[in-house]
Amino acid sequence: MSRLIVSHVSKRFGGLQALHDVSLETEGEILGLIGPNGAGKTTLFNIISGFLKPTEGEVRYGDHVIHHYRPHQIVGLGVARTFQIVKPFSDLSVLDNVLTGVGAPIYPRMRAFWRRYRQRVSVRAAEEILELTGLTLFADARADSLPIGLQRRLEIARALATGPSLLLLDEPAAGLVSQEADELADLIRAIHAAGKSIVVIEHNMTFAMGLCQRIIALDQGEVIAEGEPAAVRANEQVINVYLGRRRDHA
Ligand SMILES: Nc1ncnc2c1ncn2[C@@H]1O[C@H](COP(=O)(O)OP(=O)(O)OP(=O)(O)O)[C@@H](O)[C@H]1O
Ligand SMILES: [Mg+2]
Repeated sequence: MSRLIVSHVSKRFGGLQALHDVSLETEGEILGLIGPNGAGKTTLFNIISGFLKPTEGEVRYGDHVIHHYRPHQIVGLGVARTFQIVKPFSDLSVLDNVLTGVGAPIYPRMRAFWRRYRQRVSVRAAEEILELTGLTLFADARADSLPIGLQRRLEIARALATGPSLLLLDEPAAGLVSQEADELADLIRAIHAAGKSIVVIEHNMTFAMGLCQRIIALDQGEVIAEGEPAAVRANEQVINVYLGRRRDHA
């Protein structure tokens, strides 16, 4: 496990300041990232995972300064992410979707990868991940035939397949009914207990409060509160900005 250190990161899209001077550190915890629509949460994940370059600032993971790395290099260092809009290989089976992740860091060149990715050891690793994520029964189903709750689990399974030490989850509970969300929280706790650091973006305050050991709240690209869940929830700025605006939208 390594420490993630985001230092003074800003990101502009033309005239839009999506992130402004954001700093955070995390290692070994379940850290929640909350904030209203457009706060910059996904942009921060995109920067940590190498999909976007920051306009200013630095991102470190362990001994590496990673904000100039490409996404696959960052995966290779043990940082995996899921997407807010799930992105499975829709015409592949659930098992094959996970196998693509198991193979990725081992066989970066696609031809070698396709020839070898069904080796027994990869299949066994993928099956263990399906077991952990509760997808064993659906191993042979086409990914796009799964209901959204299971597609979100598959998204996590594919990220786990790359062998991460840090897992970034972008709204994994979005669209789930409350029982599904509770089960998902149990899964995330189990992944954390297995020795992984987790950062989870979440809109639902109750879900975040029940799951996270620490929470950082963003608004308009800036950190407005940080601390234990109860303290963040009681923070006046969070109540005004985040909860107030959410109520307006409800
Ligand atoms: N690639 C991009 N090009 C231009 N603007 C972008 C891009 N990505 C994000 N933005 C803008 O940056 C701001 C932050 O967006 P971001 O997706 O990070 O918010 P978010 O906190 O994840 O919101 P949500 O809760 O809706 O997912 C928004 O105003 C968004 O429109
Ligand atoms: Mg987002």
